[in-house]
Amino acid sequence: MEKKKKETETEEVKLKVKKSSAGLGLFADAPIGKGQFVIEYTGELIANAEADRRGGKYLFNINSKWTVDGKGRDNTARYINHSCKPNCEVETKGNRIFICAIKDIPAGEELSYDYGEEYFDELIKPAGCRCAGCRH
Ligand SMILES: C[S@@+](CC[C@H](N)C(=O)[O-])C[C@H]1O[C@@H](n2cnc3c(N)ncnc32)[C@H](O)[C@@H]1O
Ligand SMILES: [Zn+2]
Repeated sequence: MEKKKKETETEEVKLKVKKSSAGLGLFADAPIGKGQFVIEYTGELIANAEADRRGGKYLFNINSKWTVDGKGRDNTARYINHSCKPNCEVETKGNRIFICAIKDIPAGEELSYDYGEEYFDELIKPAGCRCAGCRH
């Protein structure tokens, strides 16, 4: 049976990179419905030991063995910032990383997901979290 499309769900997810409170960020350029797939986080699949050697803010750790280095400019998902009250979440399937909306997101709103404790403690906490919740 064909899935009924919610009113907030658009055919095509439209996204825009622009300045946010934490450097560049990724914004909805059209409404996105709760549960909708937004974008895949792509890059080179590398072993965690190699990720430790490289360092950098675009490393996405998948599990105890593998990390995706998403530093490439074609990886638009790399512009999504961390939030303590996010509107997206990450789902990993094997070694692939999918970002989905967990709320209805209106056009113009910044996309965010929770980066997780390790990344937060190492790279966000020292300078302070600049997500919408923490700035208030
Ligand atoms: C994957 S990048 C996100 C895009 C980044 N803002 C940019 O301009 O390329 C992650 C980096 O963005 C910054 N960042 C992301 N979320 C943040 C937040 N909530 N508070 C402060 N800095 C944040 C940190 O420098 C972090 O290491
Ligand atoms: Zn925060």
